[in-house]
Order: sequence, then C-alpha cells, then structure tokens
Amino acid sequence: MNEVAAQTGAASGSSPAPAGALGTDGEMPILRFLTCGSVDDGKSTLIGRLLFDCQLIHEDTLASLTAESRNFGTTGGELDLALLVDGLQAEREQGITIDVAYRYFSTPNRKFIVADTPGHEQYTRNMATGASRCDLAIILVDARKGVVTQTRRHSCIAHLLGIKHVIVAVNKMDLVDFDAMRFAEIEKDYLAFAGELGIPHITAIPMSALTGDNISSKSEKTAWYNGPTLLEKLETVDVSTAAAAGPLRMPVQWVCRPDLDFRGYAGTVISGTVKPGDKVVALPSARTSTLDRIVTADGDMPEASAGDAVMLTLADEIDISRGDVICTPNDRAEVADQFAADIVWMSERPLLKGRPYLLRIGQQSTVCQISELKHKLNVETLEHVASRQMELNDIGLCNLTVSKPIVFDRYEDSREGGGFILIDRLTNETVGAGMIRFSLRRAHNVHWQAVDIQKSARASIKHQKACCLWFTGLSGSGKSTVANLLEKRLYSQGRHTYLLDGDNVRHGLNRDLGFTDADRVENIRRVTEVARLMVDAGLITVVSFISPFRAERRFARERFDNDEFMELYVDTPIEICETRDPKGLYAKARAGQIKNFTGISSPYEPPENAELTLHGGSKSPEALVDELIEYLTSIGIIDQL
Ligand code: ADX
Repeated sequence: MNEVAAQTGAASGSSPAPAGALGTDGEMPILRFLTCGSVDDGKSTLIGRLLFDCQLIHEDTLASLTAESRNFGTTGGELDLALLVDGLQAEREQGITIDVAYRYFSTPNRKFIVADTPGHEQYTRNMATGASRCDLAIILVDARKGVVTQTRRHSCIAHLLGIKHVIVAVNKMDLVDFDAMRFAEIEKDYLAFAGELGIPHITAIPMSALTGDNISSKSEKTAWYNGPTLLEKLETVDVSTAAAAGPLRMPVQWVCRPDLDFRGYAGTVISGTVKPGDKVVALPSARTSTLDRIVTADGDMPEASAGDAVMLTLADEIDISRGDVICTPNDRAEVADQFAADIVWMSERPLLKGRPYLLRIGQQSTVCQISELKHKLNVETLEHVASRQMELNDIGLCNLTVSKPIVFDRYEDSREGGGFILIDRLTNETVGAGMIRFSLRRAHNVHWQAVDIQKSARASIKHQKACCLWFTGLSGSGKSTVANLLEKRLYSQGRHTYLLDGDNVRHGLNRDLGFTDADRVENIRRVTEVARLMVDAGLITVVSFISPFRAERRFARERFDNDEFMELYVDTPIEICETRDPKGLYAKARAGQIKNFTGISSPYEPPENAELTLHGGSKSPEALVDELIEYLTSIGIIDQL
C-alpha cells in the first residue's frame, strides 16, 4: 500500500504520529482526520480552503495558482483551491499509485494530519488505510444531492474502522441559497442512517468550501445556524483516547540479548502504563514475572505508558519471543485460534473460504483460513447478504481459524490490538484488513484429546512408513490411471494403502461441491484432512485430485510432517489430454456445455517444487509407476523387495 506525505505549512514531523499523541506545545492532541467524498462533492476544494484559510499557502504558490485557475480552473477564473490538492491527481494519472496522501497543517490551537484518500473504485482499500489511523471523518455531502449511496458507504466503512466522530460537511450551500430547510432535511436523513449504524458523535455543518462559508469564519448567510464552523469543530473536538488508562499491552518487537547477563524486550507500549515492580504476564505462554527496569537510550525511565518505545527487563528469565505481548496479569489480552472478525476485502482476486492466507496482527504472523463467511454487508441498506466469497471492496463478517493461537484485544477496545491484515502468500499482496470482534467460545471448549497409540505404531504394525502421495495434474493427464496402477503394485507387495480419487470422493463426502474456485478450495481442504487422518492411521495414502491451485497444495503439504508428503505432478500437455478425452468432458467444455473446466475456462497452476514430475504424454502408465516405485524406494518409503 502506498502512502505519501505532503507536508504543508507548520509541520509536526515526517511520519504520521500515533492517534491521540499530544501536540508538542499544547494541550490538544494532534487531530488525525479523513475526508470522504468524490471530487464532485468538492473535497479538494474543501482541503484547499482549509489550508488557504490557515494561511498555509505561500505567496509563490498563490501566484501560480491564480494563473492556473485562469487556465484550468473550474471556477470561471476565480481562485480554484481544488487545484492545490489535485496535484496528486496528476501524479496518479501518470501511473504512480497513491492510496493515501497525508497533509500536515496547524493553527495556533491544534495540529492536524489530514488523510486524503482518492475516491476511485479502490475506495474501500484507501479508506481502510487512511481511516484506521484517524479519529474523525469529514463526510462531504453535496447540498443539492443530499445523502447518497456514497455517503452511506463511506460512513459505514468509517464506523467499521472505529471512527467515533463524524462531521457531515453539507457543502455547496451557496447553490441552494443557504436554505435552512434543505440543511435540516439532510441532517435528519443522515442522522437516521447513522443512528442505525451507531456512530456516537455526529455534527452536521452547512458550508461552502468554494466561497469559504462556515469553514474558518461564521457565515452571515447562515444566520439560522448556531453550531461551530468547520475549523472550530476540528480545533475543539475531544478525541483524547483512554489508551494510557487502558490495560498494559506491549507487543515485543525484538528480544535484545547482547550477552548472557542481559535480556531486554523492545517494543512500543500500545496501552496502559507500567513501572518497575509491577507484575506482568507474557502471552501466549502465560508466564508471569515482575518488571525490573525500563531501559531507553536516555537512561532508565520510572514509568512507561502508551506511545513510549522502550526496552523492558524482567526479574525472572522467562521465555519470551518476538510477537509475544506483555500484559497486566489482571486484565489480559485474549489468546485464541478461532475468532470472528469484520473483513474488508481489497483484492481483485476474491477471498475464498478455506484458502490459507498470512495474517499479520502487530508483531505476530500466522497462517489463517476463513472457516465461515457469515455474511456480507450491503453498505447501502446495512442488510446482511449470504455469500460464499468476497469480492473487491466487499465487507463481511467471517469466522477465522489460525494455525497457532494469537494474542489480541477486540478491535472496539483497541484498534492496534484487534486490527490485522491478510496477505496473499504467493504474491505478497495485502488482500484484506480485519477487525476482530470476539474469540469463538467453541475454540475454548474443544481440546486436543491425547491418544496412546501413535501414528508410527500404527504404521509399523503394517511394516511400512505412512505417507501421502499427492497426484496433481489436468483432467485426462493420467493421474487416476497411474495412481490406480501404483496402488495395485503396492497392494501386491502387501502394503496397506488407500486411494482417494477426486471423481469418487465427489460422489460422497464432497457431493455438495461444484467446480467454482471456492468449491475447489473446499474440495482440497476436505480431502487434505481425510488424507491426514489416513496417514495417521498408518496407511500409504494416494490422493488423485486435479488440485489446480498452488495455495491449496501448499496448505496440504503443511498439514503433514516434513517427509510425509510427496507432490507428484503428472505433466501431460493439455493437447494430449484433450485428444484422449476419456470422459468426453473436453469436448463438452469446448462446446460451452461445462463451465469452469480446468485448462480451458479455469486455471491450472503447475507445481513449482514437486518431488517428482511424471511425463504423462510421453511415457506409458507402467513406465511411470516403475519410476515412482524407484523413487519411493530411494527415499525409504518402501523397501527393495
Ligand atoms: S479439483 O479441481 O477440485 O481438484 P477433482 O479432482 O475433485 O477437481 O475433480 C476433477 C474431476 O471432475 C475431473 O477428472 C472430471 O472428471 C470431473 N469434472 C467435471 N467438471 C469439471 C470441471 N469443470 N473441471 C475439471 N474437472 C471436472
């Protein structure tokens, strides 16, 4: 995700300060806000006007702006303030991707950081990037149009991302003759919608960014309006968070061990305060100790609180590693491997239930899967919509399962403790942002039951080593034929085997699944788990599924021990598969009678690191099985007979 900081006027530093940080010289914390609306709503003009009124525009900029306004402006030769901020638009048009632009400005009373998010089709992604760090959102409404779909979407996303203060900027009042009735109508409409959403603090302000009414000074044209101007509201809104008062949370960023005598845990305190002598607990291990010292470059500190970057040392040697969270023992963060979360999907490629993604929360990363997509949200009507996958810009409530327990707080209690991102493991693209609602109780109540007979014991009674031989390849590549011959050979040697074949498993366990990407992901997830149980039972388990996606084959591999899983790629050119066409399916697919047919209208991603590639186009099935037997013998799965 790209962000750009456009420094304007009195600046407060080069990188965005944490929400709620105190201004260096005043009582008021820095206000981070977000502007939502399209160019047509006058967003750029509004930001330009704020900067202009705060006299942050230099003389030379003003001169060139006046000239440019004559040439390109949309204000009939008048000063076009939108041109000030639309410079970024030009960069975007040159193909430079900018998702969020930050501008810094200040008045004598407060410092501001405004996140300007472009309103194009990736708006959810951009808003999620900008809003997750903002305290307030200005939602622009064109007085002529009133509350529209876009207004509802933006409000919904802002709310979801934890923004508690909204200013409804009813702009272009000059075009409705500063009509009090019109303003009241829009305010009422908005409050009705926002009430349903649950946004706690809403202020509607009638204004005209173009003519400067109610931006920094009270307009004479709205004598009927008694509320604050936009700048007054921005200067006085109280967004001081209770972070310092909250329970202690310090995610460990790195463990410092310069020698055997010193062990420090470095990180930034995200909430609460701590001082030497305080009892602390490290999660997820739940080991407790007492805080010994708070070490900084400028010497020890008597106390550390939210926002402080420090190194903590403890009285006892307990095992803490990067990603662990140091907490107060009597108000701990949660530790769970299943939870419900709101997810904002940001990728062109849909979110698929069951597909493994990388989840990053604070300093922790783990593999996760969406185990259930409970519903998507219709952001216009707030209705819940049933769906099996999420597309770009969708918002949905999901259950997630992670491969190792994570430490977190609910997003509503802590944006940092409960906000995460999802990353595609193949492309490294950030594909989603999530906000944890709660851990799932069932995760607390289901425990692993230890059994006494182990996998190795079950296998050794059969005089074999259990493993999973995973065949992948196109339909008609010869997978099933080779797998079947292989099983016969193994059986004749007295091995205990089982063959899981795609077509057959789809007649029973997976009969509810079709061939969409989402269904194939689930198909492979289920057969992976079945194969795992069979390997646990001590069997040489042969799987023959097209299994077209790398992500799921990787997932399958990761469910087994290191030397237990072998990916066998039956690499037969599609032309040959199509000529063979044993079930007449290619012909049907070409005729358009079968949708999503692998290799024709649905992708096949060839393996990049298969243990063995079998050339199904040039060798006979018998020859391929000979190759396989030789391979399995060489790696000790079967003995030379
Ligand atoms: S997978 O892609 O989900 O792994 P699987 O191996 O279970 O597929 O099933 C593939 C078998 O289903 C093929 O061998 C073929 O006989 C049949 N089939 C029916 N429709 C399709 C389709 N659209 N794409 C691929 N195979 C299909």
